Amino acid sequence: MGYNIGLIPGDGIGPEIINEAVKVLDAVADKYGDDFNYSRLFLGGASIDAYGVPLTEETVAKAKEQDAVLMGSIGGDAKTSPWYRLEPSKRPEAGLLGIRKALNLFANLRPAVLYKELSGACPLKEELTEGGFDFMIMRELTGGLYFGERKTYEENGIRTAMDTLVYNEDEIRRIAIKAFETAKRRNNKVTSVDKANVLDSSRLWRSVVEEVSKDYPGVMLEHMLVDNCAMQIVRNPKQFDVILTENMFGDILSDEASMVTGSIGMLASASLNDTSFGLYEPSHGSAPDIAGQNKANPIATILSASMMLRFSLDLAMEADAIDRAVAIVLEEGYRTVDIMSEGNTLLGTKEMGDMIAGKIKR
Ligand code: IPM
Ligand code: MG
Repeated sequence: MGYNIGLIPGDGIGPEIINEAVKVLDAVADKYGDDFNYSRLFLGGASIDAYGVPLTEETVAKAKEQDAVLMGSIGGDAKTSPWYRLEPSKRPEAGLLGIRKALNLFANLRPAVLYKELSGACPLKEELTEGGFDFMIMRELTGGLYFGERKTYEENGIRTAMDTLVYNEDEIRRIAIKAFETAKRRNNKVTSVDKANVLDSSRLWRSVVEEVSKDYPGVMLEHMLVDNCAMQIVRNPKQFDVILTENMFGDILSDEASMVTGSIGMLASASLNDTSFGLYEPSHGSAPDIAGQNKANPIATILSASMMLRFSLDLAMEADAIDRAVAIVLEEGYRTVDIMSEGNTLLGTKEMGDMIAGKIKR
């Protein structure tokens, strides 16, 4: 069957890792007889260079025609890149926020998984992580501080800036439903994270999440304050199944969670709306310092492609094949530099892509 896939190579290591994901997708298409039609979309710095703005209407329109979009990464080095001499609303990140909003991608799923082959890279003490951990952060992605009114102004000659954190109950309800639905397919626990001891938006969050939980009697709900959650992720990560939280808290906690796994180069993510459409991307950033050096780990992007096949294209068999190929390559001891340890075999970005694609062809 034919599928339309949008590709956003983006900036930094983005183009390299997307190339490897496409290699793997092509191997899958070959073996299973699928027909993937790729369209290249511009976003972030690449779009600024081509069109002067980080997101064009054409990109939004083209994205809407796709069954799903796979993204590498966007953004550059804020100290040296000319993109960061532009005003904030014209920088690469603004393009990413713009496409999330334009496509209504309100649910951001970020898994934090400790791979057993890579447990040596986990910075936590072994006794805390024995048996591994596997939780999912469900981050609200189109509301809160990221999209509230903001301004910088002077008050009595003093420079002042303001950002606002707004949520309405509908926005909270729809992301809460996604979290409970996800927990139902996992281990039946939702930890809703907020700052209800201080923020009105968090108190509303808590009460709407409570309402939604009534429809999911089989799923256990607990509330946790965000500062405590930041601590619990390093103290006892095994306690979590699905962490449900607002946009800014989710941004911070998901970086923490991915670091704790010791394998940020391995973690995929999905941003979904109310249809089967999704935007899939690795959890890591654009790593401009190693761009173009064939050093980046393409696995997070390859696993994002697998997530895309599973969730947006309904191709579970193909997705399983990718996941299996990645597992075999890790078992056989192949590593990119970020996850390298003694006794294993070091591969570059391209060689890792070849290796994984090769396991699918067999
Ligand atoms: C992320 C990133 C983005 C965010 C940046 C690049 C705007 O940190 O996807 O987590 O804050 O959402
Ligand atoms: Mg982030």
